[in-house]
Amino acid sequence: MGKCNVCLHQLKTVIPFGKMPISNRFVTDPDANEYVYHLSLGWCPKCLMAQLESCVDPAMMFNDSYAYFSSTSSAMEDHFREMAKEISEFVSDRIDPFIVELGCNDGIMLKHIAALGLSHLGIEPSANVAAIARDRGVKVLGEFFGAESALEIQKIHGQADLICGANVMCHMEDINSVFEGVNVLLKPDGVFFFQDPYLLDILKKTSFDQIYDEHVYYFSGLAVSQLAGRHGFELVGMVPKEVHGGSMRYYLKKGVNHQDPEDVTFHLSQEKAFNLHDFEGYVSFRENVDRICVNLKQTLMEIKDGGNRIAAYGATSKSTTLLIYSRIGPELIDYVSDTTPTKIGKYTPGTHIPVKSHSHFLRDNPPYTLLLAWNHEREILEKERTYRKGGGKFITFFPKVAVI
Ligand code: TYD
Ligand code: ZN
Repeated sequence: MGKCNVCLHQLKTVIPFGKMPISNRFVTDPDANEYVYHLSLGWCPKCLMAQLESCVDPAMMFNDSYAYFSSTSSAMEDHFREMAKEISEFVSDRIDPFIVELGCNDGIMLKHIAALGLSHLGIEPSANVAAIARDRGVKVLGEFFGAESALEIQKIHGQADLICGANVMCHMEDINSVFEGVNVLLKPDGVFFFQDPYLLDILKKTSFDQIYDEHVYYFSGLAVSQLAGRHGFELVGMVPKEVHGGSMRYYLKKGVNHQDPEDVTFHLSQEKAFNLHDFEGYVSFRENVDRICVNLKQTLMEIKDGGNRIAAYGATSKSTTLLIYSRIGPELIDYVSDTTPTKIGKYTPGTHIPVKSHSHFLRDNPPYTLLLAWNHEREILEKERTYRKGGGKFITFFPKVAVI
């Protein structure tokens, strides 16, 4: 059992997943030894933060071979265009506003801010994605963000009007240092918002594949409001977002007693109704996870026993947890189709299923396809209309296993 990263209280173990490889480290040589660590979800009964019980060294995950590129889906492009619009409206009445994005990845959002000529800085330690952002006209600092780097940034650029982060706060193990950094870097009347996969969505859908090395935290409003309070911030808004299978955007301001946040009150009551403040809620989550794993493997085995081949769609990081914990490997799945050039020709971490191109998938036309990138279901089903009309079936698994 680990200790809470936020308040140091003893964690309660929710699901010990066992040994896992790094979820985004696609394998070039399937015979070479892979780095493994123990993946276990824990929950802090004191500050209510769900989190990994032990973390992987960030330099192992976020480096010059980081396989995650934000700009691989049109839905994500739309989402981040919209985010940039909201930010530019927020700063429109400010003089020479300064915008900071933590984890800007390939510049999917900041490229719009840069195009508007607004002062900005993206903080991105993964050198390969940062280089793409720079090519798109985005100013990037290639570092991990925390109290120290925030001070350096503030000395050079001054304080920010707005600091934001999408799918990055949950990556940052030393979250207290991140908050200290935001405190230093944000103007007194500035806004800090971040969004990450939402714990309530994970529990409702049983989408346990969100639990992997990069995701140290599984935020809820209940936990974020406490964390914010520790650092002199108040949670002033919560807005659900569809991306990444169900995310929540949290808006924070410095100080206390801002206007009555109705949406926060609403979401906190929803979280309590689902027992997010009580270990019982997590016990039933684990039961649901185990049931889905058994059902999914059973379904795949029946299809295979019936003489049909199965491919998979989307070499996502999250599928590492799903495949390994459900014990699904190359004996059931022939290959995973993916559009990311750096993943094609490699093998999935731990399970060593070959990753092949989308054109290979179209030529091969497998009778069954496991939809690993379920968070892009709408976009993929639309794109693969012809495959489905021709009799191709997708297998989905959250909140229950289905063949569609
Ligand atoms: P992503 O949603 O980023 O999940 P994770 O954070 O778990 O890695 O990954 C989606 C993956 O699916 C990415 O490798 C690109 C791939 N993909 C396709 O191959 N085709 C598609 O149409 C879409 C939308 C994604
Ligand atoms: Zn805690």
